[in-house]
Amino acid sequence: MAVSTKAEILKAIRNSKDYISGQEICDKLGVSRTAVWKVIKQLQAEGYDIEAVTNKGYCLLSYPDILSSSELMSRINTKWAGQRVYYHKETESTNDDARYLAEEGMEHGSLVVADHQTAGKGRRGREWVSPPGEAIYMSLLLRPDFSPERASMLTLLMGISVAEVISGLYKDLKVNIKWPNDVLVQDRKVCGILTEMSAEPDYIHHVVIGVGINVNQTYFPPEVADVATSLRLCQGEMIDRAQIIVAVMEYFEYYYGIFAERGDVSDFVHIYDSYLINRGREVKVLDPKGEYTGVAEGINDKGELIINKSDGTAVTVASGEVSVRGIYGYV
Ligand code: BTN
Repeated sequence: MAVSTKAEILKAIRNSKDYISGQEICDKLGVSRTAVWKVIKQLQAEGYDIEAVTNKGYCLLSYPDILSSSELMSRINTKWAGQRVYYHKETESTNDDARYLAEEGMEHGSLVVADHQTAGKGRRGREWVSPPGEAIYMSLLLRPDFSPERASMLTLLMGISVAEVISGLYKDLKVNIKWPNDVLVQDRKVCGILTEMSAEPDYIHHVVIGVGINVNQTYFPPEVADVATSLRLCQGEMIDRAQIIVAVMEYFEYYYGIFAERGDVSDFVHIYDSYLINRGREVKVLDPKGEYTGVAEGINDKGELIINKSDGTAVTVASGEVSVRGIYGYV
């Protein structure tokens, strides 16, 4: 059974307000009663609480925290972002998987999702600790038709998308972005983004945006325990990971559309700056040509951070070229 048919059957049951009969599903999707029955059995075995009642049909009684291609594809409401999902129960790194898929010609918007990464990668060669069953590890494959120097702005689009999703779902939480791309909740890191690109000097082959979101963890290893948190710890409840993935894809597609038309981030500088934790704060710029301090003002249309130095001059710094640290602690 193709993943998309399974996803369609799941979608039909999910979207039905009441019981939906096997016949109705068959008529809607043009599949046999036996095929529907087989999918229902598979879904029940995967953990879906689907009630089957004679003469009434099927009803999904609860929404378990299941990540699978069928689950995600039955819920994603986009034109292209995440329309094709490659799910792994366990993998080394979804960024590497997305790169392999790119090399095999997979289309723009394909999404790799894993429940567990055994060699998750962070920025600057660091490890991204990726335990099973608790968090989101996903990588979105893009094939942009703009020049490579614009690609770093894609990371900012993903940062805003994640921030918008979290602040939209959990209105009481303090959500910020630490330039260029850490999303913080209650001043601790909840999401990291690793963007990798394959390009010629004037042509992008593909870009992979890897996103790690701490969703249901209650434990962090000592090396990150002071700076990391999870949505569950902040919100005090278990969170449905698929809901977050779906919403991030929807926001990202929206922002990407505006960005691709404009060629820069000018249309959402104000939104980005409203989340920017560094804004108005003193930061230290670890420039390979020499460190300096200044006060971060916001980003410009190219997504660069504007810094007012103590000598009165303003400079802009591009992500990837320098690292910016808060003077006092993590933020
Ligand atoms: C950071 O250092 O803040 C970036 C972390 C990025 C982690 C994500 S998890 C999904 C994707 N696969 C990886 O190996 N890394 C990224």
